[in-house]
Amino acid sequence: MTTLISGGTVVSATGRALCDVLIDGETIAAIIRPGDTSLGSDLAASADKVIDASGKYVIPGGIDAHTHMEMPFGGTVAADTFETGTRAAAWGGTTTIIDFVVQSKGSRVKESLEEWHRKAEGESAIDYAFHQILGDIDGQSLAELRSLPREGVTSFKMFTAYPGVFYSTDDEIFKAMQIAADEGMLPMMHAENGPVIDVIAEQLVKEGKTSPYYHGVARPWEMEEEATHRAIMLSRVAHAPIYIVHITAKQAMRQVQAARDEGLNVFGESCPQYLYQSLEDQLGAPGFEGAKYVCSPPLRSRKEAHQDDLWMALRTNDISVVATDHCPFCMKQKQMGLNDFRKIPNGMAVVEHRMDLMYLGTLSGKISLERWVEVTSSTPARMFGLYGKKGVLAPGADADVVVYDPAGHTKIGVGDTHHMNTDYSDFEGWEIDGHVDTVLSRGKVVVDQTGYVGRKSDGRFVPCSQSQYLL
Ligand code: URP
Ligand code: ZN
Ligand code: ZN
Repeated sequence: MTTLISGGTVVSATGRALCDVLIDGETIAAIIRPGDTSLGSDLAASADKVIDASGKYVIPGGIDAHTHMEMPFGGTVAADTFETGTRAAAWGGTTTIIDFVVQSKGSRVKESLEEWHRKAEGESAIDYAFHQILGDIDGQSLAELRSLPREGVTSFKMFTAYPGVFYSTDDEIFKAMQIAADEGMLPMMHAENGPVIDVIAEQLVKEGKTSPYYHGVARPWEMEEEATHRAIMLSRVAHAPIYIVHITAKQAMRQVQAARDEGLNVFGESCPQYLYQSLEDQLGAPGFEGAKYVCSPPLRSRKEAHQDDLWMALRTNDISVVATDHCPFCMKQKQMGLNDFRKIPNGMAVVEHRMDLMYLGTLSGKISLERWVEVTSSTPARMFGLYGKKGVLAPGADADVVVYDPAGHTKIGVGDTHHMNTDYSDFEGWEIDGHVDTVLSRGKVVVDQTGYVGRKSDGRFVPCSQSQYLL
């Protein structure tokens, strides 16, 4: 089966050009410049299927490097299954997710990885890879950590947040980082000072400050900056790289920037919610509405002016990846914290909107089209050892392709018009001049103008190699 995507502007991390894309089966066969007849003078006539991309952008499918499908968290389970969450991702132009396998307290790393394979296999609309969460670091976890690269898992997340849940002490973190250095793995850090945050949160609740807004007040940027600095120093001494997930604060970003200026293998990630939303406008929404936006680290105060600096860091590569930290909960689940913000399950519903929201950044002149592709696809592929197969349109790569229509319009999910398994969307009502037109996953059209046309079993596990930034 051959497919020709004709007449579009192919945008890569390094440039853009009018080209046709020829797909043979699951992979890209050729990128053809106008006038190049080396493969025949009328490929449209010989291809089994032709997709007209005139006036549209043709980009590598999005890679969301931070999702939590079916994650047990906060006394409940994240509302998107692999089936519903990956289908929503496909609707939004994401063709690969990297989901976090959860080792919770008392469970074993290997077992958790097997469990995640069971959850995802045959259920995923798009390809998926895994990072490991280390939620209980002991001798056995560390031994099991060493074996993960052979299973295609080369990155793992630790937490200086969430005491009693995923929190690890500095010595535990340091030991895991030393193993990462030995095995060529990439440690990832949720950097907030959890123990201090818990003290502040308890004091706020005692004062009767229990609404969602105080979730943000309890988690000041200083506690993110401090933990980011600590994680970088620990990784430095362990001779390990470090990837700081979901950066929200300009001061935390500057810690990453300073380390990178010294030549350290330190990388940063942020998420659309931190680039657009705020403590006042979202967490502080009337009534209990703010609960929809409770995530950690929290949305930051407009008055502290973080967002311009985060966008700047995206341009200068001090933040290299935009992921979503998709961890959705329905309103009923959020209501567990009606009288105490500490009991609101942490996480937001964003996986469907990332490509559109970052495209919006190109329209407002904050990033270029090339940088849009780079931070949403090419760099996550390189960062987590998927590049070549994913994150690029080139002969031999998987034919994960998005045709994006700059003349289209997207009104982000109002009511039941989004596809995530939640009764709201965190960007409900946002409008973007641009639209995901067609999505191909390994050569198969999974979204077209009629909507989602794929199947839940289309996606496969993709093993990660070593991060290409460490070679
Ligand atoms: O609030 C969040 N971020 N929920 C998901 C878990 C995590 O910390 O990434
Ligand atoms: Zn986190
Ligand atoms: Zn997360």
